[in-house]
Amino acid sequence: MRKIITIVGARPQIIKAAALSRAFKMHPKFKEIIVHTGQHYDFNMSEVFFEELNIPKPNYQFEIQGGEQGNQTAQMLVNIEKVLLDEKPDLVVVYGDTNSTLAGALAASKLQIPVVHIEAGMRSFNKAMPEEVNRIITDHCSTLLFSPTKTGIKNLEKEGFSVKHIGHISIDNPLVYHCGDIMLDNSLYFSTIAAQKSKILTQHKLEKNRFILSTVHRNTTTDDPIRLTSLIESLLNLATKHNETIVFPLHPRTLKQLNLNQSKELYQRLQATKNILLTEPLTYLDMIQLEQNAKLILTDSGGVQKEAFYFQKPCIIARPETEWEELVELKTAILCDVEKQKIEAAYLSFISNPPQNYPPIFGHGKAAEFIAEEIVKFLS
Ligand code: UD1
Ligand code: UDP
Repeated sequence: MRKIITIVGARPQIIKAAALSRAFKMHPKFKEIIVHTGQHYDFNMSEVFFEELNIPKPNYQFEIQGGEQGNQTAQMLVNIEKVLLDEKPDLVVVYGDTNSTLAGALAASKLQIPVVHIEAGMRSFNKAMPEEVNRIITDHCSTLLFSPTKTGIKNLEKEGFSVKHIGHISIDNPLVYHCGDIMLDNSLYFSTIAAQKSKILTQHKLEKNRFILSTVHRNTTTDDPIRLTSLIESLLNLATKHNETIVFPLHPRTLKQLNLNQSKELYQRLQATKNILLTEPLTYLDMIQLEQNAKLILTDSGGVQKEAFYFQKPCIIARPETEWEELVELKTAILCDVEKQKIEAAYLSFISNPPQNYPPIFGHGKAAEFIAEEIVKFLS
């Protein structure tokens, strides 16, 4: 029996882990142990996904909630190391670019346990983002690197990684694969289930293709009052001047910032705008049901940008740059940062001329199966 430890902590990682857990279940020789760092801890940011996406409950659950970057990561490191020393896994799987990813990769690599990095090679080329630092370090601590896109492979090659698999595989001679996006596996797997089970459209009297879906949570968007104001003003503009209904599930970070004194007035204006629907963080099924029925998506989320593409919806990216640059090259997404005029121009352009071309650049929804097979080969 081969023992694999999966580290999760933040919402998107739990969702991604669902796809690989399904694939691991097809391999009776794998025992998956799930470690949850506790980075996200509200019911609707964590537990709800385990239930809804049928993910085995975490075997280890830490309570490392909030805190500064260093403090949060350090606590995770200490706790993960203890589990790794006790469990002695054959390898450790980490997802994406959060502090939980970094802590998992650092703890495992220092103990010479091979690290599998899912979503390797993604770069924003903006190290002011904590995620960019996390991605780079994680890739360089990994032994198996799975990149969802060709751009990810090119980025890794520029940093000295080779896709040629020659000789003994180790952290010094890692394996690099282009495998497609594990989030597409989930979008395909759950979209019909969401259409059948989710009541979100009727609950809020939302009509297909008659509303905009928006999410924002990046610290670079929310923690600077000027930038947060600019983003919220952009939403208010679409709702009032263009009479658009906007569904806006609030991430806890965003809600915290809106509740600060400096943003109170802004928050009150949002609440008073009747065609802006403010909600708590949604379940995954509700979220993808909204995505597949929205007319347009406005987000600074990495995952939501890609899901917009999977459901063939135009996307306004509320960031200055993106790791998913193919979306911009294909013109299905426009980078607008938090600038009201750019956002309005992108909105008008998408409404009058919706993109038509959504080629399968993220694979065909079989990434998790591929990753599981390669892990089997590596461990045999
Ligand atoms: C984290 C990741 C980010 C990812 C996002 C997904 C890092 C550096 N950032 O950002 O890459 O895109 O998750 O959503 O790892 N909070 C709650 N309840 C919760 C979760 C968070 O109240 O369930 C609060 C925390 O206490 C904290 C704030 O929200 O004050 C931010 O949480 P944190 O996990 O530090 O960062 P995110 O912005 O969620
Ligand atoms: N998501 C969700 N409910 C929400 C907002 C997002 O289930 O209210 C899902 C979304 O469909 C995607 C993932 O969370 O699968 C993206 O996570 P998030 O935006 O928090 O982080 P990022 O992808 O930017 O790291």
